[in-house]
Amino acid sequence: MVARELSGREDDVDVTLRPQRLSEYIGQDELKHELNIAISAARLRNESLDHVLFFGPPGLGKTTLACIVANELGTQIKVTNGSALIRTGDLAAILSSLNPGDVLFIDEVHRMPVIVQEVLYSAMEDYSLSLIVGRGVDARTLTIPLPPFTLIGATTDPGRLSAPLRDRFGILLSLQYYSPTELLEIIQRTSHALSFPITVDAAYAIALRGRGTPRIANRLFRRVRDYATYAGKSIIDAEATQKAMESLRIDELGLDQTDRKILECLILRYEGKPVGLSSLASAIGENVENISDVYEPYLVQIGLINRTPKGRIPTKKAYVHLGIPFPAKGEA
Ligand code: ADE
Repeated sequence: MVARELSGREDDVDVTLRPQRLSEYIGQDELKHELNIAISAARLRNESLDHVLFFGPPGLGKTTLACIVANELGTQIKVTNGSALIRTGDLAAILSSLNPGDVLFIDEVHRMPVIVQEVLYSAMEDYSLSLIVGRGVDARTLTIPLPPFTLIGATTDPGRLSAPLRDRFGILLSLQYYSPTELLEIIQRTSHALSFPITVDAAYAIALRGRGTPRIANRLFRRVRDYATYAGKSIIDAEATQKAMESLRIDELGLDQTDRKILECLILRYEGKPVGLSSLASAIGENVENISDVYEPYLVQIGLINRTPKGRIPTKKAYVHLGIPFPAKGEA
């Protein structure tokens, strides 16, 4: 059962297209290898799987993997989000509804307030729910036993979890950006699932602009499919892809207008000198978390921004990409 309706976002329209088994999941080979060993061992011992923490940039497949884990274990999964667990009672209600062996998936687990995170400590460690009931002199600790279960947490940044919570995850798995070849395969899989064919050239052109992220590559695929439908084509070709990307103003590295605004701001406004995250965010009118979690990691990954102790600086490659002359030494 899925506690949270996975609807509302376009990416979730094709939840049913997501791979159901580890063997269907493309990429993240090292992670899959480790996960496969842990799942197989838990099954052989007939025990619940140790708690798992997935971390990495958004859109790389943390939720998909959590659902696959439950499938592979042959158990139910309950899905929630750290931002929905505001009070200890919110978490207690979900924990007390678990059946033996179930998976509880908490996306954005770092968003839980510390007081709620604390309820997880004993739940994870000895499958018991310790709640304080009553106030003042009447306050008592109520301990309720829980069935063995597996908590799967997902976060963009494990550093934002309290250390005691982080330490209670037995299996820590980091998701990496996908290679263009892996994204190509994912796009071909989506094209097949949606019964809208695509040429290899077009799929590769999308893959190159997918920022190493299946969610983005699949979103681009849908935009290009719209364009092809509009143009009366029954197959997505390189021309439709090119036209769609131009109208979306997505360049050949997959950068959009916000990425370019970030780079222009670093180069032109701050003249290549180190800039703090909050100054950068307010200069371009974006929120800090969006820059730190979504935009910056990819710009760093492809070598357009360097993170230094004093702040972010644009690299020479960023100047070249925007067609701005790189200042000679002493000029900056
Ligand atoms: N769809 C989105 N991500 C995927 C992946 N890693 N493998 C297969 N299909 C996917």
